[in-house]
Amino acid sequence: MPYRQVVGSTDLGPPTDTLPVTTPRFGGPAELAAALDSVGYLPDTGLAAAAFLALRLRRPLFLEGDPGVGKTAFAQAMADVLDAELIRLQCYGGIDASQALYDWNFPRQILELRAAREAAGGTPDVTSLYTREFLVRRPILKAVETSPSVLLVDEIDRADDEFEALLLEVFENNSVSIPELGTIGGAVPPLVVLTSNRTREVHDALKRRCLYHWIDHPDLPREVEILRRRVDGLPDELAGQVAAAMRRLRSANLVKPPGVAEAIDLARAAVELGERSLTDTLADAALGTVAKHHDDRAEVRRLLAPAPLVASGSSAGPDLPDRVDLPDRVDLPDLPNRVDLPDRVDLPDRPRS
Ligand SMILES: Nc1ncnc2c1ncn2[C@@H]1O[C@H](COP(=O)(O)OP(=O)(O)O)[C@@H](O)[C@H]1O
Ligand SMILES: [Mg+2]
Repeated sequence: MPYRQVVGSTDLGPPTDTLPVTTPRFGGPAELAAALDSVGYLPDTGLAAAAFLALRLRRPLFLEGDPGVGKTAFAQAMADVLDAELIRLQCYGGIDASQALYDWNFPRQILELRAAREAAGGTPDVTSLYTREFLVRRPILKAVETSPSVLLVDEIDRADDEFEALLLEVFENNSVSIPELGTIGGAVPPLVVLTSNRTREVHDALKRRCLYHWIDHPDLPREVEILRRRVDGLPDELAGQVAAAMRRLRSANLVKPPGVAEAIDLARAAVELGERSLTDTLADAALGTVAKHHDDRAEVRRLLAPAPLVASGSSAGPDLPDRVDLPDRVDLPDLPNRVDLPDRVDLPDRPRS
């Protein structure tokens, strides 16, 4: 792997000239969208445009959105279309440089130290313990060394905000600076994809450095298509019913609204259970694929299979709801208690022909 010395420049370099010959080039967002589609990821038009520009302008792509809208899957799909290695850094509270960038293999250093002492009877040169041999590569270092690669910094909102400063420094130079070794950067910087579930606001400084895109839940036709691609053996009718149910659930006031992941789980559950439409039976059996908070259970159950729904295979006849909820009381207008009818009505004689 060729190393390059970086002199702290913020120059982003030419857009695509240095991409390896094997890296696909895309004529525009539509071409990139088609490539993503071909690996099973269906981006919205805004995402395809943002991703195209991130590649061309060499900027990290910051993706924000509810859980399960396809942020992590997008990074994997980009790696697939670029024929690049996906290197993932999962963020968590307390993550720091030694887990994100690099560390030193301390036990090996101690062993080396002991061996050198025993052999030479003296104190070895400490600098010999800080070479590449003793370096533990963490995801960011791995990514800057690997060309081509996609670096996924997943769920940055889980990390403490000091961690963002560290990322900024790396993105400024597309390299990792190791005091004992110098600056390490691969021939081609990785495409960086950051994601956030927005459990907290990420600092403007980091967002400004990136291209930003908010991933929304897919619209109905796109979710149907995602389900058809991702779930083998899913009847078309059921795909439509699951996607429609997701829309109902997302517009309800749930603690945990379902993402595409939950839609896929529900559809897979249906296939496993041999159900061909979203009936009460399926809603009861597969409730746990969608309701992920105790307080949501009743509402999710109600909205998954509300009346009217007819089980497939029922005899041809009028589509009647399984259950009709009647109001407890119907207030009728006041009527007179008695209607006085005449005792007798004299009808006219029938005309004779
Ligand atoms: N646009 C999409 N095209 C194809 N699959 C998608 C899409 N959006 C979401 N998915 C699927 O939904 C599931 C959840 O996506 P994921 O990337 O884990 O969500 P997030 O990271 O936003 O929480 C994955 O199985 C993913 O493949
Ligand atoms: Mg994710």
